[in-house]
Formats: sequence, C-alpha cells, structure tokens
Amino acid sequence: MRSQRSQVVVVGAGPSGLLLSHLLAARGVDSVVLEARSQAYVGARVRAGILEHSTVEVLREAGLDGRLRAEGAEHRGIHLHWPGERHHLDFVDLVGRSVWAYGQTEVQKDLVAATTARGQEVHYEVTDVALHDLATDSPHVTFTDATGLARRIDTDAVVGCDGAFGPSRAAVPDGVRTTWERTYPFSWLGIMADVAPSTDELIYAWHPDGFAMHSLRSPTVSRFYLQVPAGTDVTTWSDDRIWDALALRLGHGQDGWELTPGPITDRSVLPMRSFVQTPMRHGRLFLVGDAAHTVPPTGAKGLNLAVADVGLLAPALVALLRDGDPGPAGSYSDRALRRVWRCTHFSWWMTSMLHTGEDPFDHQLQLSQLRWVTSSGAAAAGLAENYAGLPLEL
Ligand code: APR
Ligand code: PHB
Repeated sequence: MRSQRSQVVVVGAGPSGLLLSHLLAARGVDSVVLEARSQAYVGARVRAGILEHSTVEVLREAGLDGRLRAEGAEHRGIHLHWPGERHHLDFVDLVGRSVWAYGQTEVQKDLVAATTARGQEVHYEVTDVALHDLATDSPHVTFTDATGLARRIDTDAVVGCDGAFGPSRAAVPDGVRTTWERTYPFSWLGIMADVAPSTDELIYAWHPDGFAMHSLRSPTVSRFYLQVPAGTDVTTWSDDRIWDALALRLGHGQDGWELTPGPITDRSVLPMRSFVQTPMRHGRLFLVGDAAHTVPPTGAKGLNLAVADVGLLAPALVALLRDGDPGPAGSYSDRALRRVWRCTHFSWWMTSMLHTGEDPFDHQLQLSQLRWVTSSGAAAAGLAENYAGLPLEL
C-alpha cells in the first residue's frame, strides 16, 4: 500500500469538493480530492443553474467569477404564473439583490480549470474509499486508485463532499447521527431543448394539472420542468405530450405570450426529497453539501447551500489547521445547520405552494398564497430574500 500525508482529504469532486480544495489551497492548506467517477462524467451532469447572491460572492472571493459575469445572465427576479395571471417579482427592488443564471455544468468547468491550473491533487475513478479513526485527531483514508493501486492518506481532517450516496454520511455512527426526511408524491420531468428561451427570466407556474417551470441556459438553450407523479417512466412522455403540457401549464396564448418548442436534447425524471443529517461534524469528519442535505429543486437551493457550507468550512479549517484555533470548526455544524434548515423550509414552502394534488381545498389555499406573495410587498420581500439568498451566517 502506498502511503502519503495531506492536511485535508476531500471525498467527492462535485462543486463542493473542488471549491473547498481550491479555497484551502489559496490559504495555504493542502488537500487531496478523491472522486469515484471520471472527470468527464462529473463535468457533464445536468443540474439546476441559479446562483444566489452569496454564492456569487463566494465565487468572486475565490477569483472564480470571470466567465460567470461574462457569459451568465443576471436576473432581477422571477415570474409567478397561474391560469389567467402572471406577475414579476423584482428581487432587486424588493431586497436589493439579484441572482445569476449560470449552469452548474459551467461552474464545474470553472472549478476543474482552477484546480488543474493550481496543480491540485484530484484522483478520479477511485474505488473502495473508507474513512478511519474519525473520532481521533489523526484519521486516515484508504482507497484504490484508477490504476488499481491500494493507497492510504494520513490526514488532520476528512471532508465528505460525496453527495447523497457517498460513504461519508454513513461514517457518522448510528448513535450520533439523526436523519430528517420528507418525501413528496411527485417528481420533475426535466428537459433540455435547443431553442431560444421564450422568457427573459424564470417562470414558475401553478396549474391544476401540476407545476411547470421555464428556465434557461443560454440564448439558444432552454430548460423546462413538469410535475409528474413519483415513479413516472420517462418514455411515457413523447415530445408532443411534453410541449402540449408545457404550453397549457405555462400559459401559451395568455396575453399574447407564446411558448416556442424545439428539439429536445435531454430528458430525465428527478425525484423530490427533503433530507437533513445532523450533526454536520463528527470528530475530524465534516459533511458538506448533498452529503448532509438534499432539498427539492423548487427554490434552486441545492448548489447554493453546498457553496454556503464551503464558505463557512474553508475558513474554519484554515483556523484549525494553520492557526491552531479550533473555535470555528467546532461551531461549523451549528452555524451551517441554521442556514440548511432555513433553505429546507424555503424549498419545502415553494414546493408546497406550486405543486398540485387532487384536493380542491389545497388548490384554493395555494392560489390565495400566490395572490398574497404577488400583491403584498412584505410577502414578496420574504420570498425574494430567501430566493436571492440570505447572508452566509444567519
Ligand atoms: N468515493 C468518491 N467519490 C464519491 C463517492 C465515493 N464512494 N460517492 C460519491 N462520490 C462523488 C460523486 O461521484 C460526486 O461527483 O461525490 C460527488 C458529489 O457531488 P454532488 O452530488 O454534486 O454533491 P455536491 O458537490 O455537494 O453538490 C451539491 O450541487 O451537484 C449539485 O445536486 C447537487 O445541487 C447539489 C449541489
Ligand atoms: C434550472 O435552471 O435547472 C433550475 C432553475 C431554478 C430551479 C430549479 C432548476 O428552481
């Protein structure tokens, strides 16, 4: 077995893992990143693409906002739609903050470029990652690299950035961890289409048949979602069925607005779930991003929460490992969880307001809520504050 030492071992090279490794390197703390998949696979995953204010700030401080500002689109707010009504909520007017539409695939590309330029050690296609002695001050991680070589890294801290299915979450002993979960009886059918967006900013639409959303990726690529029952087989949705449902639910023809269809290049069904595991720290193991929490995508919080965790943990690890100050690392879990629960509530609330079931009483409550957030400045500001992003520390 080949042995080495690194101050930090990061498990997972998604946005959390690469951003953390980059921020640590910038502050003189070395790390090794271990990723189960290939670089190409990680770089091609299609995911939500709205960056809130504090995410853009963290990326700016990391020197990673160049292409985002050049190629991303700054959005002042969102449109809320239901049959007969469409309202724009202007976050800049309401709370003085905007959001950016910039695909997560692009964020991942920028992170790969930055970590490669810095010569960061990232091992792709590793197997058998196992975490050891986490409750001591000198844990170690074992794994098999892409060439089949068994390896060991002795370290001061292990960071689980390995998403909802990685080994880090489960490395917290049963008596220590608590899991909190809500499942929803619906999923999203997501499609990518080679067509110019029919909207300037995102449309979130309530409809008795189910929620729909119009998002965008570039001047020539649009992203759409349709609420479908959980467990839906994607092959039961033909192109025509998808475009008909989007047209109906998004209000094609209402007040002259038209939805332009185009070739569908990707389609998949995304399950909806709220999940939190507490605490986010156990000894020298720290959990970040999807390793600790999953939100339904309605509030576009998944990536933003992951970046916020990293924004808290990076300085905490620097304090611990470079300056010998254990304070911020000790409080990381409590501080991160304040925001995690705020975003978990917001994502659940947006989901509950916009997704329809069979119950007509629920429909009336939802419509009342929609009328309220689009007519009361106070209610609109509440939505805007949560959507455009709260400060890193709550
Ligand atoms: N060993 C090494 N790596 C692993 C292992 C393992 N056993 N298991 C999972 N991984 C890797 C995955 O292959 C993935 O690349 O961990 C990475 C986790 O990345 P994400 O799932 O993207 O999670 P995170 O970086 O926290 O991002 C959170 O961004 O990707 C979105 O939906 C996600 O919005 C959420 C946010
Ligand atoms: C997306 O662009 O994929 C997207 C945007 C906003 C959401 C969810 C997904 O709330």
